Amino acid sequence: MHIRPRPWARPELEASPFFAAEPWTLKNHWRERFPAPAHPLYLELGCGKGHFIAKMSAAHPENNYLAVDMIDTMLGITRRNVVAERGGADPENLTLTAWDIERIEKILGPDDRIDGLFINFCNPWPKRKKHKKRLTHTRQLEKYKAFLAPGAWLRFKTDDDDLFEATLGYLEEAGFEVLALSRDLHSDARYAALEDFPTEHEAMFSERGIPIKYLRARLKAPAAPAPGAD
Ligand SMILES: C[S@@+](CC[C@H](N)C(=O)[O-])C[C@H]1O[C@@H](n2cnc3c(N)ncnc32)[C@H](O)[C@@H]1O
Repeated sequence: MHIRPRPWARPELEASPFFAAEPWTLKNHWRERFPAPAHPLYLELGCGKGHFIAKMSAAHPENNYLAVDMIDTMLGITRRNVVAERGGADPENLTLTAWDIERIEKILGPDDRIDGLFINFCNPWPKRKKHKKRLTHTRQLEKYKAFLAPGAWLRFKTDDDDLFEATLGYLEEAGFEVLALSRDLHSDARYAALEDFPTEHEAMFSERGIPIKYLRARLKAPAAPAPGAD
């Protein structure tokens, strides 16, 4: 995504208590950053300008959140949105960090025990030879599995039909089961019951009349050994 660089973004992030500037030093220790390390820890991949995570993390002080994006300008705007959402205060239950999610295994490990993963409107990478860059591609899902807690879920929203249908295949291939699915989330009667906040892309696409596709999936439990098996 192209965005005009904001020169204030990096200095403001560096000065912020809820920005982690060296995420590789926190691998397997993210929970210790939060005052309540035992609270559930949720991860947003590609948070953009942070409309979603600002609202979600403010609505749920009983949870901890980590939001990742690789563009400082996006994270700088997120930081401002988060602080504005809290009336000028810094959050204690949210950390932002800058990293390329294609290399997520360098910054997150099994002891981080992520309880849920949000992927909202990730880049669709329509050309076949770029599909592996999709944040929902099997290659990425295999990486996420290493740091998900038992029973953890993944929530995914997109405007892109091809990415959505392909993601159903990626999930199957990586051993996830789909628990809920809608190809027109905002018109779905179940939407009112889903605690959710629109992202900036979601608002833009739904204003254009493009249906929002949504799913929630969970890693399948490993099969129990057959009786009598070693
Ligand atoms: C299309 S925008 C969506 C932003 C927001 N989630 C929304 O729904 O409005 C995709 C975001 O993911 C980030 N992104 C894409 N690929 C990434 C990667 N490999 N690592 C980190 N961030 C990435 C981009 O910088 C951008 O902010």
